[in-house]
Amino acid sequence: MSQHAILTEDEAPPAARREPIITVRGLTVGFGGEPVLENLDLDIYRGEVLGIVGASGAGKSVLTRAILGLLPRQAGKVTAFGEDISESSDPDLERRWGVLFQHGALFSSLTVAENIMVPMREYLRLPQPLMEALAVLKVELVGLRASDAGKYPSELSGGMIKRAALARALALDPEIVFLDEPTSGLDPISAAAFDKLIDDLSRTLGLTVVMVTHDLDTLHAIVERIAVVGEKRILVEGDIAKMESFDHPWVRDYFCGARARAAGALEAEV
Ligand SMILES: Nc1ncnc2c1ncn2[C@@H]1O[C@H](COP(=O)(O)OP(=O)(O)OP(=O)(O)O)[C@@H](O)[C@H]1O
Ligand SMILES: [Mg+2]
Repeated sequence: MSQHAILTEDEAPPAARREPIITVRGLTVGFGGEPVLENLDLDIYRGEVLGIVGASGAGKSVLTRAILGLLPRQAGKVTAFGEDISESSDPDLERRWGVLFQHGALFSSLTVAENIMVPMREYLRLPQPLMEALAVLKVELVGLRASDAGKYPSELSGGMIKRAALARALALDPEIVFLDEPTSGLDPISAAAFDKLIDDLSRTLGLTVVMVTHDLDTLHAIVERIAVVGEKRILVEGDIAKMESFDHPWVRDYFCGARARAAGALEAEV
């Protein structure tokens, strides 16, 4: 094909059609000994739901934290919204993403609304009543009741805590959210309801979602593209069909094992 051949929409690779909002190039992260991630490349496209999978300890959480600039990098470059995050002097950059950490739930001494107002206080100068009204809107956006806004985390179920933590991640109307295992610990029905919420938010708000997950049902239900972290890099990225035909022991076991078949069968039924 000539260099100047015009590709139709269907022929064009996704990278040519979509705008990356985050690019990771040559990322190396370690904690003294062997690096956890080495020379890793990844693009995240606007509006997609990207699933990040990989064995426990492979470096999925390290990858998300490194992208967010929360871990020192030994090498590599991360660009977010066209800016190099390590050199960015733009204090607004952090407002453009929201995060739901794997282990960071909510501040237990604050109500749901107060938790949601923490980032608002840090970044927005708004009168208290307006922040309170916005916090209640976020509570409702994630499918909780307005009356839950005044509750403390100890008064919520696990699923409600995940939703409240998501509301806090959405507090500043980010363009992209990073969710690190948001449905772990939820029963399958609550997890499916949370998946639907993420899917709805991504469609209605045009939100870009990067979700670390071990949940094959989630990958089948809402994730458009998957990136597998392994051997310190992105082993493979693409859709489920690509994962299922990729020749690598871990990827094959994960996507073609007994649990994978059960998730695929469930999807085929609905
Ligand atoms: N702050 C840290 N200091 C030292 N080592 C760390 C630190 N954070 C992570 N690691 C190490 O980096 C490796 C990758 O950890 P990470 O938390 O990214 O795994 P993961 O893929 O998210 O696993 P899981 O699926 O169990 O959450 C592990 O060996 C872990 O011990
Ligand atoms: Mg993790």
